[in-house]
This record gives sequence, C-alpha cells and structure tokens, in this order.
Amino acid sequence: MTVYFIDGQFTERDGLAISIDDRGYYFGDGVYEVIKVYGGELYTAKEHIDRLFQSATKIKMTMPYAEVQLMEIARELVAKNNILVGHVYIQVTRGSATRMHQFPDPTVPPVVTGYAINNPRPMTGIENGVGVKSVADVRWLRCDIKSLNLLGNVLAKQEALEAGCIEALLHRDGVVTEGSSSNMFGVKDGTVYTHPVTNLILNGITRQVVLGLCEEQGIPVVEKSFTIDEAFEMDEFFLTSTTSEVTPVISIDGRPVGSGILGPLTMKLQKAFSSQIPSFIADE
Ligand code: PDD
Repeated sequence: MTVYFIDGQFTERDGLAISIDDRGYYFGDGVYEVIKVYGGELYTAKEHIDRLFQSATKIKMTMPYAEVQLMEIARELVAKNNILVGHVYIQVTRGSATRMHQFPDPTVPPVVTGYAINNPRPMTGIENGVGVKSVADVRWLRCDIKSLNLLGNVLAKQEALEAGCIEALLHRDGVVTEGSSSNMFGVKDGTVYTHPVTNLILNGITRQVVLGLCEEQGIPVVEKSFTIDEAFEMDEFFLTSTTSEVTPVISIDGRPVGSGILGPLTMKLQKAFSSQIPSFIADE
C-alpha cells in the first residue's frame, strides 16, 4: 500500500484524512512539484525543490520546512514505497482555515503532503512520437508559478485527449506558449526554438536539462516565441516534461510535422537525455 506524507508523518492511505477547510481544496491555494525517480534515485531533485520554494515565495507563502528536510521527505517516500522508476509528488497548501479569500492568520501552518508511485517511462510516446492539438491558452498570467490551480491546464488536456491527441499545444492569440503539462520545442534548419522564460510558461526542469544538452551537443537554441503557423512549418517538434522526458511530436492538429516521423535532432537529444540517467533504465 502506498505510503503518504501528511502532517509531518508517514502514513498509509487508509485512514489518511485531509481537512475539508484546506485552502488547497477550496482555492487551489498552494504549490506543487513532481520529481522523477530513476533506479530508486531522485532525478534533478534539488532543481525541483528550489522551484517549489520559488513558487511558494511568489504566492507569499512561508515554507514550513527547509530544503534539506523536504529532500529527506522525498527520499523517504521513495524508500518506503520501494520506487524503482516512478515519481514523487509534493504539494504545499496555505493550510486549513474557515473559508475566506484573504490569507488566514499567520499562525495557520501550511500543509505539506506527498506520495511516491511507480510509473514506467512512457516508451510508446518516446519511441513513436505523439500528436498534439492546438488549444487557446486561457490560463492566468502567472504560469511561471507551479500552482495547484490547474483548471486551464485540465480543460486543455481534456480537449486534446478528446481529439485523439496526447497533449495540448497552448497558444495565446496564435503564439505558442507551452503544453498543458509540458514545454514545447520546434526545430527549423538545425536550430531549436522554444518560448523564452517569462510569466507565460513554466520554466520546466526538463526544458533546462534539454537546453543544457543542446549546448553540450553544439545544437543552436533560440529562446524566442513562434506562432502556430510557424509550428506547422517546423522540420521537427518535441515536448519535454518530468514524466514524458523528450517526446517527439509527429503531428499538430492531425497535420504531420516535417516528414511525420521521428526527426534526427530529436533522436539525438533523446539519446543524450537517456545517457545522463541510470544506464540500466536507459537500456530498457
Ligand atoms: N508538469 N509546463 C507545465 C504547465 C507543466 O505542468 C509542466 C510539468 C511542465 C514541465 O516541467 P518539468 O520539466 O519541470 O516537469 C511545463 C508536471 C509533470 C505535472 O503537472 O504533472
């Protein structure tokens, strides 16, 4: 049975109770992270925990633990749940208080919850590519915060799935921002294009890893937004996230991207990505 972390304790799911007054439940008033586990080890955990603290600061919430303590909680969740390949989920809400919009009394402690589950790498998408659907990005203007408020993302993902696609390609007035739970990249004439780091996207940890790999491999990168029309003209397209790694996008709105098969630059980046995670996993 999955072991969860709640209220400073590790506990099994049965009997676990969350307050009905939790502000995460009422308002989505909190922040979260998803950290990948490969070979029983947390991957880029420091980067994720740093971002969790940055998100908390941006919503004016004081974290109840230090970074090292959260790292230890994440490690214990992996160990207690015997995770080999999977992920850790951690969320922090602004605590439990009678429902009112303004912040509760500062003595109300934030609520930290977490769990870890086994979750295999999505090899079908990674090896064969996926289709995406363009969807208007109607989210708020602080997409740089990894907030629990995900309704815009949820609606976009559902719209994409109902159209037979794996992910939504979000755009604001025709300008591509990111995916509903991923970052988006186009490749044109050997250069990688992706939206710059602004309030309109989440600066994905996988995005940062991949941009680092591009530098290592001598692949030019331009962090500049492009339109949906330009996306159709890309030679290759791919998305990144903690759980989907580097997933090739082979069609947008049912139209093939480039040759409609996995492109060479995307495959080069996939190889580079796999080579920096535990080898017995990469060989799967
Ligand atoms: N989502 N953009 C959005 C809106 C996201 O929700 C995510 C991640 C990303 C990619 O970030 P990273 O590479 O750090 O995972 C970009 C996670 C996986 C989720 O909500 O499940």
